[in-house]
Amino acid sequence: NARKPFISGNWKLNPQTKEEALTLGNEIAAAITEDSPDVDVALFVPYVFIESTMGVVGDKLSVGAEGVCPELKGAYTGAISTSMLKSIGVQWALAGHSERRVIYGETDDYINAQCRKLIEQGMSVMLCIGESLTEFEQDLAASVCAVQLKKGLKGISAEEMSRVAIAYEPVWAIGTGRVATPEIAQKVHAQCRAILAEMYDAETADNVRILYGGSVTPESVDELMSQPDIDGALVGGASLDSAKFGRIINFK
Ligand code: G3H
Repeated sequence: NARKPFISGNWKLNPQTKEEALTLGNEIAAAITEDSPDVDVALFVPYVFIESTMGVVGDKLSVGAEGVCPELKGAYTGAISTSMLKSIGVQWALAGHSERRVIYGETDDYINAQCRKLIEQGMSVMLCIGESLTEFEQDLAASVCAVQLKKGLKGISAEEMSRVAIAYEPVWAIGTGRVATPEIAQKVHAQCRAILAEMYDAETADNVRILYGGSVTPESVDELMSQPDIDGALVGGASLDSAKFGRIINFK
């Protein structure tokens, strides 16, 4: 396939100081060399560190936001809009991460509004989807993903899908050290692609990058990346360690 691999890191609430963020950003950028695979790299970082991290990574990778407010302006205390992010040169943002769904109660409709606002602003979105442990045990992964994809992408056209990436993150694999086997991940990725083909068309589905997320490490990345429908990784814990994340970027 013609999909360019996409390795991304999600720092969540982790680097505690600007200094920590800049050191990490700098080391990660240094891990991208001429010998690295032809890969897109993005880091999703806390708002306050976005601009300064952009400054240290240069054009080696993109620095994105961990979330957005679907409103552009007004009385929304504490919120950050897509227009603010766009004005400082941000291209990418996450939407639908399970932590936002579970801890902050973000619904599929709210997530859809975030995705649409990003697309409307000419930006790109990485929509995160994935089933809980109970749902996995009941063999509901594909149907949960189908609902999250259909609701999350409502109103987004086939053409606009070129600015959308999907991250399949089974909730039971996030931060647990229990990475999905390449077989399980491949199976769900293929099912997600089939759902996208149904929603759009075969060509659009074939062009969408579907990343796997959930306890990805240097030890698991190579085999995951060798699966036909796994186009990248969304990495939490290991993106806070430049040696580990560097090795993930340089997957084999
Ligand atoms: O967004 C990233 C995921 O939540 C994965 O986190 O690699 O720490 O399991 P993790």
